[in-house]
Amino acid sequence: MMLEGLLVDLVPYGDRYKDRQHDWRNSEAWFWLDVGNREFATHASIERDYERYAERQAEHRSPNVTFGIQTKDGKPLGLMSLNWVIPHLRLSMLGAGIGEQAYWNGGYGTDALLLIVDYAFDWLDMRRLWLATMGPNVRVHRQMEKVGFTQEVRHRQALWVEGHGWVDEVMYGLLREEWPGRDAVIARLGLVARAE
Ligand SMILES: CC(C)(COP(=O)(O)OP(=O)(O)OC[C@H]1O[C@@H](n2cnc3c(N)ncnc32)[C@H](O)[C@@H]1OP(=O)(O)O)[C@@H](O)C(=O)NCCC(=O)NCCS
Repeated sequence: MMLEGLLVDLVPYGDRYKDRQHDWRNSEAWFWLDVGNREFATHASIERDYERYAERQAEHRSPNVTFGIQTKDGKPLGLMSLNWVIPHLRLSMLGAGIGEQAYWNGGYGTDALLLIVDYAFDWLDMRRLWLATMGPNVRVHRQMEKVGFTQEVRHRQALWVEGHGWVDEVMYGLLREEWPGRDAVIARLGLVARAE
């Protein structure tokens, strides 16, 4: 299965993505993704995390849907996920990380976000999506606002982040009835496919 976007496709998060974990998890991307965590990931700890993840999924604990983000010519860039899917409440928390930092600010993350939001509402029948990030994560704030999420909560000075000190935690939400659909958002933002 593949969700086809303008700049990226969302694909199964298979071995090609696992091979990139060591670089990505020890990069700036995971510092931002993991709310300021600078813990070094070894190959062994990554392997253990994969095993634990598989166990949790098998036991249906904290269900999760993770896609790989790849360029149109197939280069793995990162992941886009629905975490903590709560089926009876039909809500889920978004997660995103572009491990290849050279691709930040190029519109790839927004393209991936539009795909997963459509997928969550249209295929999984979710009714609410949300996301938490740290105050200094300007790329995420910009991305959420332009796509149409509402800033719902700001926990002031709730997090300690190396290099930033005490920072706010900011939470965004989007309800299904607020989502006009991917095509409408693409038209509103004037997004177009482009050659690499
Ligand atoms: C978050 C992430 C997935 C976004 O993907 P991306 O491809 O970089 O994002 P986009 O290019 O689609 O959008 C980012 C926006 O932030 C804007 N931006 C970047 N730096 C900015 C700054 N200093 N101030 C204000 N806006 C800024 C960009 O200009 C862009 O807006 P535009 O399209 O209006 O120009 C990606 O940056 C990433 O993986 N970051 C590290 C991990 C992370 O933070 N994950 C999310 C945790 S909640």
